[in-house]
Amino acid sequence: MKQIQMTKKPSFSLISTKKIIQMNNISTSYDSKNFALEKINMSIDRGTNYAVVGQSGSGKSTLLKLMNGMMIPSSGTIKVDYMTPNINDKKFKKMMHTIGYIPQSLGLVKNSTVLENILLGALPRLGFVASILKKFPAEEIEEAKRLLNLVGLSGKENRKAYMLSGGEKRRVAIARALMQKPTILLADEIVSELDHVTAREIMDLIADAQKKMNLTAIMVHHDIQLALEYANRVAVIKEGHKILEIGVEGDAIVDFQTGDMTTEEIMEMYSDDSKK
Ligand SMILES: Nc1ncnc2c1ncn2[C@@H]1O[C@H](COP(=O)(O)OP(=O)(O)OP(=O)(O)O)[C@@H](O)[C@H]1O
Ligand SMILES: [Mg+2]
Repeated sequence: MKQIQMTKKPSFSLISTKKIIQMNNISTSYDSKNFALEKINMSIDRGTNYAVVGQSGSGKSTLLKLMNGMMIPSSGTIKVDYMTPNINDKKFKKMMHTIGYIPQSLGLVKNSTVLENILLGALPRLGFVASILKKFPAEEIEEAKRLLNLVGLSGKENRKAYMLSGGEKRRVAIARALMQKPTILLADEIVSELDHVTAREIMDLIADAQKKMNLTAIMVHHDIQLALEYANRVAVIKEGHKILEIGVEGDAIVDFQTGDMTTEEIMEMYSDDSKK
């Protein structure tokens, strides 16, 4: 029988590694009565900046919790870098170390210094004893100082976290997440309460880190304009449903989900929605 010779390696693997997050028909509930999210489909390309916007209570934070395994969907499938997120799963727990999660509350240790907070990002990769004693190798301290400078906090390494301004706290949280050497950054409204200038400084910082580290950033935003300015794709969530997935192409806003809405219709839909 004639054997088929494979002259070239199949290209599937190259194509398939492009997607870092895949959600198919995901629904989830906190009380098994009401859905916090319902029938969500989402596909995120590696290395991109993906934004999620929507009104308060629409399910944005829940979406991030599904991606880092803090919540398990009641139905549907989710893959994060080809693994099913679940914090009780040993294999996923290992991978979780490479997911930099910045919660809406930032999660800084108030009485620890800026440098100590940043170093916490290194804990997962250090051994058990080092973690307990919080003894950090010199190269980790060097790295923390490098990140401290990168986020514009040089000279403030010994300041306690509670003494920092809102923008400075966010910079610490970003540096701590980058200290993890993440492949994915999940950031929940970290620029929402900031003035426009500081918000843009922080977004530029993340864009810069993305270029250097091939990071996929998935960020919840309050402001759709800012989201469109920085993200490749913006998912609009309304009452637990993903109603749009938009992005800027040239000087138009394109809807990638249905593909049949004009820029005016998209903006009108969003602004009507935000007035309610
Ligand atoms: N721990 C919880 N227990 C029960 N219900 C919850 C819990 N956390 C969130 N919910 C509910 O799930 C829904 C989605 O909440 P979520 O926090 O994801 O919204 P959000 O879009 O992030 O809102 P915000 O913009 O105010 O942060 C809301 O109806 C909320 O009340
Ligand atoms: Mg939230």
